Amino acid sequence: MSEYMIRVPKKADAPQIIDYVNLVAEETDNLTFGQGEFSVTVEAEEHLIEQSNNDPNRLFLIACEQDSVIAMMTFQARTRERLKHYGEFGLSVQKHYWGKGIAKSMLTQLIEWAKDNQQIRKINLEVRADNDRAIQLYKRVGFREEGRISRYFQIDDNFYDAIIMGLAID
Ligand SMILES: CC(C)(COP(=O)(O)OP(=O)(O)OC[C@H]1O[C@@H](n2cnc3c(N)ncnc32)[C@H](O)[C@@H]1OP(=O)(O)O)[C@@H](O)C(=O)NCCC(=O)NCCS
Repeated sequence: MSEYMIRVPKKADAPQIIDYVNLVAEETDNLTFGQGEFSVTVEAEEHLIEQSNNDPNRLFLIACEQDSVIAMMTFQARTRERLKHYGEFGLSVQKHYWGKGIAKSMLTQLIEWAKDNQQIRKINLEVRADNDRAIQLYKRVGFREEGRISRYFQIDDNFYDAIIMGLAID
């Protein structure tokens, strides 16, 4: 039984976050980056953590088991006046920990946080159209399909569509 904690990251988590992102980039083709594409320095990651934690319209969450990061979620609202009522998030869980409800807990926290935020009125996302696991999860927490983008991803010689999903925050 795994004992994990979901929390906002501190600057000191930067090296573990980098290790985590490199690991999940290897484990899945469902993210917007692949193996070897994440080349952020510890200093840059520390800066990102600080920036996110100081911005009331961003939310950065990690799930940790002892000293390791096992899941991560980052949400960012748009900044232009006419677009700043919505944002998008990225979410991943280390494969070993799939199916334990970690992603669902992080999304539930994001939705609760968004409801308490005066500015956020909508959460959008794009997900690879064949990522049934993620799509099921998003539907389970209330997201609805709103459209489809063809050739959203190109991985090697193959194109993959993305489904657009959204959740109104009232
Ligand atoms: C998608 C992902 C974040 C889900 O994380 P997770 O922690 O395994 O998800 P949870 O355990 O919270 O699962 C919650 C829901 O997923 C769905 N689910 C779980 N296993 C599933 C499976 N084998 N097939 C389809 N749906 C499944 C269920 O709806 C489940 O809800 P329930 O437990 O109430 O039935 C994780 O698989 C992942 O990191 N994948 C790679 C990266 C990725 O795809 N990120 C999303 C990009 S948009």
